[in-house]
Amino acid sequence: MSQSIRRIALSTGGGDAPGLNAVIRAATLAAVNRGWEVLGIRDGFNGLMNPEEYPQGGVVRLGREDVRGIVHLGGTILGTTNKGNPTAYPVQQLDGSWTEIDRTPELLGMFRAHSIDALITIGGDGSLTIGDHLQRAGMRVIGVPKTIDNDLERTEATFGFDTAVEFASECIDRLFSTATSHGRVIVVEVMGRHAGWIALHAGVACGAHAILIPEIPYVLEHVAETIREREERGAKFSIVVVAEGAAPVGGSVSLLAPEIGHAERLGGVGEKVAEQLQRLTGKEARTVVLGHLLRGGTPTAFDRLLGLRFGAAAVRALEAGMDGVMVALNADDMTYVPLSTVSKRQRTVPLDCDTMLTARDMAISFGDGLSR
Ligand code: F6P
Repeated sequence: MSQSIRRIALSTGGGDAPGLNAVIRAATLAAVNRGWEVLGIRDGFNGLMNPEEYPQGGVVRLGREDVRGIVHLGGTILGTTNKGNPTAYPVQQLDGSWTEIDRTPELLGMFRAHSIDALITIGGDGSLTIGDHLQRAGMRVIGVPKTIDNDLERTEATFGFDTAVEFASECIDRLFSTATSHGRVIVVEVMGRHAGWIALHAGVACGAHAILIPEIPYVLEHVAETIREREERGAKFSIVVVAEGAAPVGGSVSLLAPEIGHAERLGGVGEKVAEQLQRLTGKEARTVVLGHLLRGGTPTAFDRLLGLRFGAAAVRALEAGMDGVMVALNADDMTYVPLSTVSKRQRTVPLDCDTMLTARDMAISFGDGLSR
C-alpha cells in the first residue's frame, strides 16, 4: 500500500495544544524516511481554501530541517483556526447577514490540485468530525487526537491535557499563598469546554476545597457550607476550582459574546461563583481566570512523547493501507479506531471514576451536597 502514497498533507485545527509540533515532527520524519513528500497546510484548511491570504503560500513543503528543534515549542508551526469549518463555511451576504456554505467539493479539488494522496488531520472533536466528513467524501484521512480538554472518545489520553493540568496546578499552588495570607476565598476558572477533566485533575492534585464541573450541576449553598465549616475549624481560606462549562442546578452555562464562524465561547462562570460565595459567606472572594495560559508553553515530556508517538503511528497507519481511522492510546499501545466513532462525540468525566471517588473520600465539595 505504501507505494500508492507519494505525498501527504498535515493540518492542525481547532485550539492550539502543547504537543502539536511533536506530532508534526514525527509525522514528517516518518514520512520523509519512507520517501514520501510532506505538505503542511496553513491554519487548519484555510491555506488551501483561501490561498490568496498567503503571499508566501497557503501550503508549505516540510522537510527534515523544517521540523528541527520544534518539539519543545508550544503552539503549532502550521498555525490553526477554530473558525472556517469547510463543511459550514461562513459567508457574508449582500445584505450584511451571514450564511453557511459547504466548501467540501472545492477543498477536495485543492487536495487533487496539490497531488495530495492522504491527509493527517490533527485536532479535537471538531477537526476529527471534519476529517470523518472528508474521508466519506473521498479523501484518504488519518486523525490524530489533540485537546487540552481531554474530552475525546476512544483514546485514554490526548496530548496537551497533561501540560494544562501541570500549569493549572502550579497556578493553584501559588494562589494558596494569597488565600491563606489574606483568609480569602479564591475561585480559579479553568478551560475544558463541557468536560471537567482539567478542573478535576488540577483541583484534586492541589487540594482544592471545592471543584465545580459541568458533569455535576451545582448549588452554591453547598460550597458555602464547606467554606463555613472550614472557618469553624480555623481554616480561614478556601480554594474553589471551577470548570468554564460548569452551571448551577436549573441554570445554564456562562457564555462570552458570539463570534462569526466560531462555536460557542464559554467564560465568566468564575466571576459569578465568586460574587455569590462572597454574598453567602461574607468572606472576601476573588477570581482568577487561567484561560489561554493553559494552552501555551512548553509541553511536558508526557505530551511530547505522546505527540511523537501519535505522529509516527499516523504514518504507519497510512503505510499499512488504513483510511478513516484515528490513532489512539490504549493500555499504553498505539491503536486505531474508526473516525466515525469519535466524530461529534465528547467524553465527559464518569462520576464513578477513581479520581472522583478519591475526591469524594477527601470531602472535596462538588456543590451537590454529596461529599462526606
Ligand atoms: O478546546 C480547547 C479550548 O481551549 C477550550 O478549553 C475552550 O473552551 C476553547 O478552546 C476556547 O477557544 P478559543 O481559543 O477559540 O476562545
